[in-house]
Amino acid sequence: MDWGLKNRISRIIKPETGKTVMLAIDHGYFLGPTSRLENPRETVTPLAPYADCVMLTRGVLRSCVDATLANSVVLRVSGGSSIIGEDLANEEIITSVEDALRLNASGIALSVFVGSKYEKQTLLSLSKLVDEGERYGMPVLAVTAVGKELGKRDARFLALSCRIAAEIGAHIVKTYYCDNFEKVVEGCPAPIVVAGGPKMSEKDALELTHKSISAGAIGVDMGRNIWQSDNPVAMIKAVRKVVHEDATAKEAYDFFTKLTKKK
Ligand code: R5P
Repeated sequence: MDWGLKNRISRIIKPETGKTVMLAIDHGYFLGPTSRLENPRETVTPLAPYADCVMLTRGVLRSCVDATLANSVVLRVSGGSSIIGEDLANEEIITSVEDALRLNASGIALSVFVGSKYEKQTLLSLSKLVDEGERYGMPVLAVTAVGKELGKRDARFLALSCRIAAEIGAHIVKTYYCDNFEKVVEGCPAPIVVAGGPKMSEKDALELTHKSISAGAIGVDMGRNIWQSDNPVAMIKAVRKVVHEDATAKEAYDFFTKLTKKK
């Protein structure tokens, strides 16, 4: 692996712990102004200092994030469909690697839709991005299993999606937590980060984080369970406790509660 690629990966996955807390705020690329992400600048400004990496589109990066940001960014570069369109899986590459380099991204992300009508199209996009990413030292994060129509997000399906993404060359794979998550991790030679999914209680989200890390995930790429919390900064700090400091879910939740009482 060349120096540039390694250096960029080390800006996403912290070398001190080998783990990462990524903050996902890319939802608008197909969902529009999602609840509590209506004004991305307001959402991201207080949270960015606590995120090892922010995952977002170039439009939000350019207009809502100050260029003095100390932490890294992963740019979502796939899209082209919407929640009200014909098929969410019908995505293509919407941002060039050249623009990602210009924006000083530490990585690029695209979704693959294994099991959908657009499986081949999205997997070919992944292979194209990995080729270009290797050429320029830009790591690629493959996002698996977005969308309700993709069947049960069980270990068998997620292991299949993650393994295919890793075989094509994704440097990091993002997926969902499920029962027997160890099986998903075991079968995937690339490091895995876990998405949070729809908003649940902070206690449950910290539990999910802990179970994911215990099963071998190297971090989270979490959105709604952080910024849809009534106490988003306390929540991201609590998530960090689990990911970087090996806190149990209970310790992290107690920490969260303490922080919210102090407010
Ligand atoms: C996935 O493609 C989405 O754009 C989000 O990045 C992802 O779902 C993570 O966010 P959340 O934790 O809200 O599920």
